[in-house]
Amino acid sequence: MTDDKSPSDRPRRIVLTGAAGGVGSMTRPLLAPLYPGLVLSDRMEPKDLQPGETFVKADLTRPEEVAAAVKGADGVIHLGGHSVEGSWDQILNANIIGCYNLFEAAHRKGVKRIVFASSNHAMGFHPRKTKIGVEAVPKPDTRYGLSKLFGEGLGALYAHKHGMGVLSIRIGNFGDKPVDQRRLAIWLKPDDLVQLIRIGLEKPDLVYEVVYGMSDNKRAWWDNSRALALGYSPTGQSETFAAAALEAQKALPKDAIGDYFQGGSPFCSQEFDGDFGRLKKLP
Ligand SMILES: NC(=O)c1ccc[n+]([C@@H]2O[C@H](COP(=O)([O-])OP(=O)(O)OC[C@H]3O[C@@H](n4cnc5c(N)ncnc54)[C@H](O)[C@@H]3O)[C@@H](O)[C@H]2O)c1
Repeated sequence: MTDDKSPSDRPRRIVLTGAAGGVGSMTRPLLAPLYPGLVLSDRMEPKDLQPGETFVKADLTRPEEVAAAVKGADGVIHLGGHSVEGSWDQILNANIIGCYNLFEAAHRKGVKRIVFASSNHAMGFHPRKTKIGVEAVPKPDTRYGLSKLFGEGLGALYAHKHGMGVLSIRIGNFGDKPVDQRRLAIWLKPDDLVQLIRIGLEKPDLVYEVVYGMSDNKRAWWDNSRALALGYSPTGQSETFAAAALEAQKALPKDAIGDYFQGGSPFCSQEFDGDFGRLKKLP
């Protein structure tokens, strides 16, 4: 997305949930100049609050705290939640009830835009040999991945029924660089995530869209043409790091199931007692 807006044209008050987490901590310095007065929210206070940032403590499972956090916001970047596989109770509370509380509070408080951090694990049981677009059949690899489909569904509901603009970003692997073979396909550079967030918060007339949160990766398993059509122009190229990532891969244990499917190890292989032979015959 081109930098064609002055700060005064941008949405005024943006709330970042999950601000104390890994993605939140690395994107805060990139978001702060774009959205002055960025409001950080989490159930834990980030250690290094910067001048100009404010923190509102909110547990996503408590509707009144979530409502207080999003009050007066123009847009919300929703990163908060349980970010790996967990027990049903953990997923139900943080990602199902918590995500519902977030969308419902945002709707009641008149928030216009939500960017939802979905995950590649919503589609994890697609084989690596098959390139998929955003419209492919959902194949979650975990309760966690399933909860991300619920969040995407919430986004579609609130966008179409209540007039919100919502972008679900199926994040691959966020970080400074791709560190193994799988991540060469799914890596997302922090600046590229910020580009996608800006599309979600600022693109005029956005209703509801799903995109893959990946950089310009030569080995990609995903067709991200919808993101490109929305103005995404990723700058990260995982291939730059290919030699080191492939070398690091050699030290990792083999996982027949995890290595076959997009969701990888351990997401696809943990608790697996399905029929791998039958799954391998699928396209
Ligand atoms: N890191 C990645 O590569 C990646 C990939 C795909 C999707 N995502 C998604 O992006 C988001 C951020 O990921 P991350 O790696 O920073 O995760 P993280 O676990 O580091 O951060 C998540 C944050 O959410 C907060 N949180 C959890 N439960 C909460 C609750 N009940 N109330 C309030 N806050 C709560 C935690 O305190 C934490 O700070 C998550 O939604 C994750 O599922 C991340």
